[in-house]
Amino acid sequence: MNQIILTGKHVLITGASSGIGRELSRYFAMEKAHLVLASLPAEKHVLEQWAEELRRVYHVQVTTLTGDLSTPEGPGDLYQQVRDTCPPIDVLVNNAGIMAFGMFHELPLELQEKIIAVNLRAYMVLMRLFVPDMLKRGQGHIFNVSSVSAFVPTPRHTIYGATKAFVQSLTEAVHEEVKGTGVTTFTLNPGYTDTPLLRDNGFPKKLRFYFVGGKSSPATIARKGVAAFKKGRRVYIPEPHLWFLFALMNRFTPKRMINMISEFMVKEA
Ligand SMILES: NC(=O)c1ccc[n+]([C@@H]2O[C@H](COP(=O)([O-])OP(=O)(O)OC[C@H]3O[C@@H](n4cnc5c(N)ncnc54)[C@H](OP(=O)(O)O)[C@@H]3O)[C@@H](O)[C@H]2O)c1
Repeated sequence: MNQIILTGKHVLITGASSGIGRELSRYFAMEKAHLVLASLPAEKHVLEQWAEELRRVYHVQVTTLTGDLSTPEGPGDLYQQVRDTCPPIDVLVNNAGIMAFGMFHELPLELQEKIIAVNLRAYMVLMRLFVPDMLKRGQGHIFNVSSVSAFVPTPRHTIYGATKAFVQSLTEAVHEEVKGTGVTTFTLNPGYTDTPLLRDNGFPKKLRFYFVGGKSSPATIARKGVAAFKKGRRVYIPEPHLWFLFALMNRFTPKRMINMISEFMVKEA
């Protein structure tokens, strides 16, 4: 595994206004990387304030951009804004995401399509646009925030888990295609993390899963995630007990049993 040096590199992070994205920007800034932070237009002021703090504390360059990644033109517009106003991007961090809790046949179709647009299509389009630029330069890294939900079906957030499974497959397949070019990919696969994501769109206060898996802090996830990325890891589950469940046990347990456990665990407690 090749160590990745981040000093002076330019890192684009989507969904940087809160949660894991915000904390990732802090840990990339600690590495002296320059940042391009993106968020929804409504979060512009929040992002500006955060950018100012990062500049003051870590003495790095921070640019802020906004756009709605759920719209058909959103990811392409963000790419164009970056091309027009920023130096070449060394690390693309696809992080913006949304989730909804409820039965597949009951959640509004419009909301399900929006989850697919933000969590799946935006990741794919941004990768498709940035990877050729990285290949031309013979260097670059894709850092996709996935989830342990990528590894098992997730009843009551079916579409969310399915988008993460897509992102996982896409990221690992692209890694194989571009091997030896200087371009690499990485997925960060956290478990439930205490962010606004788990408070929107009907998500219950407590899930049965929290008694087993707990909830991580976004700062811990980001700190461990950036450290693993720097080491050249390709797929990384930051919580050791979740690594045991999702990487190890998942491999040796019959699929039917995994699905039944998942159905039991992802219920309101
Ligand atoms: N929290 C967890 O349990 C957990 C576990 C595993 C993986 N993850 C993944 O971690 C990533 C970050 O999530 P988080 O937990 O940190 O949640 P979060 O705090 O809600 O952050 C999500 C970010 O995405 C942005 N965003 C949402 N819709 C957008 C859109 N249409 N266009 C552009 N930006 C948009 C949000 O902007 P606003 O603030 O303006 O809404 C916010 O900055 C997601 O990919 C999520 O799937 C989370």
